[in-house]
Amino acid sequence: MTGVFVRKIAPMNLADFYYLRKASGAMKNPRTRFNDELFVEMGEDYLLQYLAKNVGTVDESRRKFIKGMMWGIGALAAGSVLDAFRGLQIPLIGAKSFVKMQLVDSTGSPVKASAIPVNNPVITLYEYPLQNEINFLLNLGDANGNPVSIPPSDVKVPLTGAVYKFPGGVGANKSIVSYSAICQHLGCEPPEIHLYPPDEMKTNMPPPAFLPTAALEAAKAANLPAVIHCDCHGSTYDPYHGASVLTGPTQRPLPAMVLEWDSGTDHLYVLDAVGVPVYGHINTLIGGEPVSGTSTEVSGTINPFPS
Ligand code: FES
Repeated sequence: MTGVFVRKIAPMNLADFYYLRKASGAMKNPRTRFNDELFVEMGEDYLLQYLAKNVGTVDESRRKFIKGMMWGIGALAAGSVLDAFRGLQIPLIGAKSFVKMQLVDSTGSPVKASAIPVNNPVITLYEYPLQNEINFLLNLGDANGNPVSIPPSDVKVPLTGAVYKFPGGVGANKSIVSYSAICQHLGCEPPEIHLYPPDEMKTNMPPPAFLPTAALEAAKAANLPAVIHCDCHGSTYDPYHGASVLTGPTQRPLPAMVLEWDSGTDHLYVLDAVGVPVYGHINTLIGGEPVSGTSTEVSGTINPFPS
């Protein structure tokens, strides 16, 4: 059965919208691939089980919403579900402009640049400028764990040929950078996409620590001690040069968040973004609730290489 005929979509709030966006990403992820045959066989029961297992709790109101959405899909086929999720309109909400925000920890205390571990294997994220836009905070080093000064560089967008300026690193060693943590290929998020620090530049690890030979060879050819790699389909980014594209399938670099360092206090601020829009957004400022206040919280999530 082909095509999607949406007769009616249940009322959608922002939480439902983000839930379905996450579902769309999970369906495309080879590790959590949606089983078309089971869906055709079991219909919405399979969909609800799949969502509960791979995306998150399906409470009563979400169950109603999803059932309403399923009712609205004229052609009951797996492709139609994905198409319907894709066709959801991003609510046209967002921020009017980029606002300078301080990076703080979970207690609200300012993050100190000198306290960020070099080559930190723990995925460290914060939201900016919207709540559904997560970003890596990285202190880049060499193979011996010494911080590496990151100069400004020109970053090319392979898809369009456009070039933009990445402003370089900040902090006492100019080694701290920040990039969107949403893959520019199809939107996979950590832990699938993360930094592979020098100690972890090796192959034959299970996902989400799997670094294919092509990524390793590209890193070696470019003389890079570390890369950002996405396990979903193999995109690799160069964190030392503005998260430019090292290996596809992505055709777009990760957008960079512009940081500012106060040398007197050692505090860090984020104030802008450069490059292409964050994945899934027509503009980095549109498509989600803005982070409110004057600070944004930085938190370490997981180490994909448990020791
Ligand atoms: S989503 Fe496909 S490589 Fe990241």
